[in-house]
Amino acid sequence: MPPPSESVNPYDENPFPRQSLAASDPSRLAATGALFGMRPAPLDNCRVLELGCATGGNLTPLAARHPRGTFVGIDYLQGQIALARQDAASLGLTNVEFQAVDFRDVSRDGGDDLGTFDYIICHGVFSWVSPPLQETVLQLCHAHLNPQGLVFLSYNIYPGWHLRNLVRELVCECTPATDPPAHRVAEARKLLDFFCWAFHDDPTPYGQLLKGELEVVQAQPDGYLLHEQLEHDNNPLYLHELIARLERHGLQYVADSDLATMFVENMGQTVTAELPRLADDDIAVEQHLDVLRNRAFRQSILCRADVPLSRALDGGTLAGLYLVGNMRPDPPSANITSSELVKFVTLRGSEMWSPSAPLKAAFEELGRQFPRGVLLEALFAAVANRLGQGGRPLPADVQATLGRDLVQCLKQGVLDIRGGPDSFVGRVSDRPVTMPMARWQARHGWQVTSGRHESLTFDEPARDILQHLDGLHDRAALLKVFVDSVGEA
Ligand SMILES: C[S@@+](CC[C@H](N)C(=O)[O-])C[C@H]1O[C@@H](n2cnc3c(N)ncnc32)[C@H](O)[C@@H]1O
Repeated sequence: MPPPSESVNPYDENPFPRQSLAASDPSRLAATGALFGMRPAPLDNCRVLELGCATGGNLTPLAARHPRGTFVGIDYLQGQIALARQDAASLGLTNVEFQAVDFRDVSRDGGDDLGTFDYIICHGVFSWVSPPLQETVLQLCHAHLNPQGLVFLSYNIYPGWHLRNLVRELVCECTPATDPPAHRVAEARKLLDFFCWAFHDDPTPYGQLLKGELEVVQAQPDGYLLHEQLEHDNNPLYLHELIARLERHGLQYVADSDLATMFVENMGQTVTAELPRLADDDIAVEQHLDVLRNRAFRQSILCRADVPLSRALDGGTLAGLYLVGNMRPDPPSANITSSELVKFVTLRGSEMWSPSAPLKAAFEELGRQFPRGVLLEALFAAVANRLGQGGRPLPADVQATLGRDLVQCLKQGVLDIRGGPDSFVGRVSDRPVTMPMARWQARHGWQVTSGRHESLTFDEPARDILQHLDGLHDRAALLKVFVDSVGEA
């Protein structure tokens, strides 16, 4: 991207939407780091830096959730930083600071003052700046990361972007980069519409492939077209190229933020049997998996190169972590305590079958507690209780087997992990209270950040109700808010 003063900056006219990104939540980063043998900083008073924070859509909700933490956001666009500061002030947050500074100047002058951080987030930035600036980003990550710190880095990748680049080049060529953003988007849409129509009945593999890609881009909002397809810089790379560059900067790859994508076992029996024979190491396996999936985007978790990692995940690595799983036995009356094979259905609709009484009891407990995460040690105690251990803990060998089974579920994407406890309640009270940040977002038209840092979209009546979840309104009052809101709509 060119410096802001040099041309029409697409972010001024079409700012990046204010959204929180669940994958960048330090609680997730901490859990992943711990799983791979690290000792990430406690979340309560963590220090978090966001590079390219834009209007603070991701950082501000984190600062609100961790009032004892320290949060610093950096972006060179004065207008976006001014909005971020205004929002933080309106929320009364004193633990977040937004700095209008270019990454290149942080390393030049401000480097030492900035200090070091437990978590560094750099989302939607790396591929969208020039290669020299990418080097600056990696330098900053290394210079400002604590010894056990974790980085969240998102970027576009090959092979998925080979095909996408074809569409990008097509639309980029149709207008000069200096034209007003709205005009560029309109012209790009005309071309997309034409080619989608032209390929409509084309039965050839080429036509089908391109039509699929064109339709993906066509369905995106204007902001996506502007910031992805028409962006001045969009530099995807292969995973192995990123790994080599990380090494040069004293950093290393820990894991993908979507753990299940890392494991070949999730790709079916034939691939599981054949692929490891063709790949020398875990990175080569992941690289080949990217090809199999035609993957176009990655969200990676990184740490310093000198941190010893343990890649052989076993049950013990879950100690001290919180497990999250929304699974229900099907049928609900299924026998949990026997060795009968029982089906569980997860939130995402996938099915799990298990004959193991401890695993079935763990699933049942996780489903009962959902959306709250359950500390592994508390889960063991609950399983012992359900299996009628008469107050005694689960025997060590049962704990070890259950731990391994749970790690297996994690690798398959059936379970999720967190580094700290949630603030969810299990029962809705008579006068429900939600997070002040969520009420504020509902009032100001933002997407609403959940207790798990997800970005949620609500309609007007839901926004109205959310604003009234302040502990002062009982169910009758909330019903009236709803009826009035629907009446007005
Ligand atoms: C695509 S936006 C992503 C914003 C935000 N991280 C998000 O995901 O919502 C990229 C951001 O990086 C910022 N940026 C790009 N180059 C920069 C530089 N050299 N110094 C500081 N910020 C920069 C832009 O101003 C922009 O706000």
